Amino acid sequence: MIHARITGTGSYLPERILTNQDLEKMVETSDTWIRERTGIEQRHIAENGQLTSDLAEPAARRALEAAGKLPSDVDLLIVATTTPDRVFPSTACLLQQKLGIHGSPAFDIQAVCTGFVYALSVAEKFINTGAARCALVIGAETLSRIVNWQDRGTCVLFADGAGAVVLEASEEPGIISTHIHADGAYESLLTTVKPGPDVDPQRLADGTAFIEMRGNEVFKIAVNTLGRIVDETLEAAGMTNADIDWLVPHQANIRIIQATARKLDLPMERVVVTVNKHGNTSAASVPLALDTAVRDGRIKRGDTILLEAFGGGFTWGSALIRF
Ligand code: ACO
Repeated sequence: MIHARITGTGSYLPERILTNQDLEKMVETSDTWIRERTGIEQRHIAENGQLTSDLAEPAARRALEAAGKLPSDVDLLIVATTTPDRVFPSTACLLQQKLGIHGSPAFDIQAVCTGFVYALSVAEKFINTGAARCALVIGAETLSRIVNWQDRGTCVLFADGAGAVVLEASEEPGIISTHIHADGAYESLLTTVKPGPDVDPQRLADGTAFIEMRGNEVFKIAVNTLGRIVDETLEAAGMTNADIDWLVPHQANIRIIQATARKLDLPMERVVVTVNKHGNTSAASVPLALDTAVRDGRIKRGDTILLEAFGGGFTWGSALIRF
């Protein structure tokens, strides 16, 4: 059996920071409301003209460097994104060109906030079957381009960033299991009316490209669904709560994260939280959080990590990893 093992992580955040105080000047909200309801204090926002592949490139290079790999070693490139640079070519192809990789398969995956977990699950299968030996898996978003900056219910939540991992063939596990799901019956609770990669002035005027969310309903379903996926993941591996060293959750809302930690009976010291500084970066949030905890020394080789995510679709998923 060929296992897939994460050998390097990397991430990138655009320089510009938008604080809750900045948002107070844009919509009727308050720093207190945002922090109490979501845990978010600030978020990073891409510059005009800075596209998803521009954020993905430095994250990818950092992951390759951490793994001791060159772009020419990569034989599979997957980008999870909800905000591609263009309808086509895929952001993965645009990134492939920026990295100087030629000939490897390169494609995007769209599963909104669960995109990175989906991409990891697909890359794992390529490696398990011998179809790839060194995969670059990236979650990258410029969600600020599809946020309605007049809608206080969503504009305080979403943000931009990128995270990446290098996944290599190994005799040692590695990724223990991945679990991915979707149920399109819930599409209307979290949606964009007319999705598209670029917000042109007309669409800004008529507001059709923007994220729309029935936050309260999404919240309740997210908490229940993530509780179920925790059970499914542990059961499949024959593990218990006590076997998990770190929870690296999708960073949507601190209250959703706390609910999943409670379900796992895991103290918050064992949960990687970046939502306070990064906001909700959709497909980028899990690899961004993973890289943060790897680089600050919390997550160490040999640790058992549970990644989980929930997002528009609805989509949801998890990955159990021996790091
Ligand atoms: N500032 C001040 N007040 C606000 C704001 C704001 N930014 N936003 C909403 N409010 C108001 C509402 O208008 C409402 O007022 P009312 O009672 O007078 O009608 C009140 O606050 C409560 O609104 P709720 O929506 O019930 O607030 P809730 O506690 O549910 O928090 C939130 C909202 C933060 C959006 C929460 O529901 C949430 O996090 N939902 C889940 C988000 C998520 O996980 N999404 C999935 C992943 S994202 C993806 O896939 C792209």
